[in-house]
Parts: sequence; structure tokens; C-alpha cells
Amino acid sequence: MTEHILVCVAWPYAKSSTHVGQIVGAYLPADTFARYHRMKGNAVLMVSGSDEHGTPILVDSEREGITPREFVARYHREICEVWDRLGMSWDLYTETGTENHYRITQDFFLTLYDKGYIFKDTMQSPYCPTDRRFLPDRYVEGTCPHCGYTQARGDQCDNCGRTLDPIDLIEPRCRLCGSKQSALEIRDTDHFFLDLPKLQEPLLAWLSEGKDHWRANTLGFALNWLKEGLRPRAITRDLDWGVPIPLEGYDDKRIYVWFDAVIGYFSASVEWAERRGTPEAWKTWWVPEQTDPPVKSYYFIGKDNIPFHAIIWPAMLIGYGNRNLPYDVPANEFMTMSGAKASSSRGNVIWTRDVLD
Ligand code: MF3
Ligand code: ZN
Repeated sequence: MTEHILVCVAWPYAKSSTHVGQIVGAYLPADTFARYHRMKGNAVLMVSGSDEHGTPILVDSEREGITPREFVARYHREICEVWDRLGMSWDLYTETGTENHYRITQDFFLTLYDKGYIFKDTMQSPYCPTDRRFLPDRYVEGTCPHCGYTQARGDQCDNCGRTLDPIDLIEPRCRLCGSKQSALEIRDTDHFFLDLPKLQEPLLAWLSEGKDHWRANTLGFALNWLKEGLRPRAITRDLDWGVPIPLEGYDDKRIYVWFDAVIGYFSASVEWAERRGTPEAWKTWWVPEQTDPPVKSYYFIGKDNIPFHAIIWPAMLIGYGNRNLPYDVPANEFMTMSGAKASSSRGNVIWTRDVLD
């Protein structure tokens, strides 16, 4: 009996070369798993790509004085070279900068909007008068309101893993100029929100059934978040780098990097199908009940990605409708270096290309 195994692997930011923590945490297990299933005679589709949007990429390209497009092209190339040298057996490794990905992201946005799962609202955002800009996500740092970690970023706390809104941070400071809370303003800005509370019930039903094979840490994190109660999440930002909002009047805003990145698994499958001359073939992998037994989709990620793969992406798929949900989300712990998380933004990593050399 042939099984269909969809292997989805976290999309690395096109912001640096890959380090060995990422390889042992996600890419090596995924590639081993994909090879095993191919040897067994199963049908396998393994996709990923470079994650090219978001504030850290914008900040770094600004610092270098080049466009974000040039910046991500350089790292996408470097990452692809490492995949070649490692012998990663991708069916497709693409990037979020493609026309295909933009089109599909905008379709997801509009479909969820039309079905009432995305709404517009005014929110408050920290604004730095020195830099004369809003401070979304990692433009702002402060203390986590949940666990007290003092280096929490505007979008997520690295210590307890919770997703955050910049406005939640205690004693926020601007990452660009270092301005402290007293110098920052809070301004109103219009944004679009994913109505997670509307999806809470179907998410709970999904997570409550047939999840015995999930890792306790992953399932526990997701159920715990549901127990605390989901809140609507802003999925657009005051930025000019990212996928444009497909509605009139929002030229100075973009879709949030995490909203578009998770859609990459789907858009990459569509691109794969088109490239091999069978443009409908993605349906086998994403539309329920196309195969018997049903497709099993696995998401190989690091544990900081759990909220997006165990809650937000499934919520988007449920809202969109008629799409396969994750079968499993094998999330790994961080590799540590001298006792701390190996992290390229902190600089304590071993680059994969150095190991290969
Ligand atoms: N770029 C993210 C990270 O490195 C992972 C994104 S996974 C995706 O943490 F599915 F959202 F693309
Ligand atoms: Zn925290």
C-alpha cells in the first residue's frame, strides 16, 4: 500500500548562511525521513524555501545600504549552495520572493477575509519619533509580560516561546536608536487581524483527536495556548517589504512575514506541480480524500516555530477550507553552544559551509 508523505521543512530566513543547529534540528531529520519513505516505495514530496520577508532582513539590508531584494538574493544563493553540497534531496527548494508565492498568499488573505476570518481594526503600535517610524516586531525589544525575560522581541519571547504584540512588552526600547519607553510614542494604526477566537473550537476539536503520536511538548504547548484563549492576531505591518495587501488603500503596509511564510508549504507544492508539467498535481497533496490512505504531512521545525505550525497555520487552513491539516509537527529542541541557544543573530554558531570545507 503506497502512502503519501508530505515533508514540509521550516523555511530558513535568507539572512545568513545556515548553521549546524538548523541542520541537526530540522534539515537532516527531514531528509533522512524522506529518503526512508522513498526507499519504502512511498510517494514523497519534500518542500521548503528561503523565508525572505520580515523586519530583521529589512534592518540588516538597511544597515548595509543595499535593497532587501539584493540582500536576500545573496543569502538564498548561499543557502542553496549548502543544500547542494550536503546532498539534500528536495523535490523543491524555492523562496518566498516568487510571483507564485505572492499570488497564493494574496489569495489566502482574500479568501480568509471574504469568509470573515480576517477583519480590519485600529491598533496601537509603538512609534519612534527619532526614527520617524512604527516599530513592528523586532524593531522593538523589552521585558516579556509572561515570563519576565528582559530580551523579548516585539513578536515573540525566545525564553517562554509565547507570541507577543509589541504593545505587550514591558519597558520597550527601539532597536534602531535605543530610545527607551519614555521617548517612544504609542500611535494608532489600521491593520488586519486573523480572527483566531473564531477558529478556537475547530482547532480544539482537531487537536483533541488522534494526536497520540505527537510529541508531548508540542501538543502540550498548543493545548495550553488554547486553554488560555486565543486572541486575534495582527497579520499586517507598517513596512514596505513583504507581500502587498490585496485591497485598495494599504500601499504603505505589507502582510506579516509569518502569515506569508507558512503559506510557502502550499505555494511551493503548487510551484513544484507547475514545474514538472502537471499543474494540478498539488491537489493530491493538499485536498483531502484524494488518496487512500490519506496524505500524511509532517512539519520539521525548531521548537520556537511551534505556535505557527501547531496553531496558526492549521487555523489558516481550517479557515481557508478543504485543505489537509498537519499530521505531525516534529519539533526539536535547540542545539546549544557553550550552554546557550545556537543562534546566528547572537553569533554563537558553527556555519554548515565551514563543516563542509
Ligand atoms: N524563518 C523561520 C525561522 O527561521 C521559519 C519559518 S517556517 C515557515 O524561524 F513555515 F513559516 F516558513
Ligand atoms: Zn516569555
